[in-house]
Amino acid sequence: MSQAIALLHGPNLNLLGQREVDIYGTTTEADLLALVEKAGAAHGLTIDFFQSNHEGELVDRVHAARGAFAGIVINGGALSHYGWSLHDALATFEGPIIEVHLSNTSKRESWRHTSVLTPVANGTIMGLGPHGYELAIDAIARLLTP
Ligand code: DQA
Repeated sequence: MSQAIALLHGPNLNLLGQREVDIYGTTTEADLLALVEKAGAAHGLTIDFFQSNHEGELVDRVHAARGAFAGIVINGGALSHYGWSLHDALATFEGPIIEVHLSNTSKRESWRHTSVLTPVANGTIMGLGPHGYELAIDAIARLLTP
């Protein structure tokens, strides 16, 4: 039976491909989703994608994911650095969570060096661009394997 994974994107990630392309590249959010869907299909995982520029909407989505999805892959965008309500929501999720960042946030401004989502994630992948999302799906598949 195929399992469903929630892919969550925080603020400004809807502008991928147009936004600070020197940092984030030219891959659009739609391109990323296609990549993740392909990576998921290889493991029998389906992907449910949701992006919001509003923290509360992401919190609601995490609540809805409880009991409905086997795992979560999340790039919280800037909310990763201060979104404590998103942290608390993710802490209630029973399945594996992988945090992804396209850029290596540790090489950037100091305010990006801490992610409040990292303590509630099984692991974090950063700095590998779109490939990080494929690795995140591989990691979720591995964590879901009994
Ligand atoms: C990001 C890094 C964050 O610091 C930034 O606010 C983003 C994107 C990344 O994918 O590298 O919006 O999460």
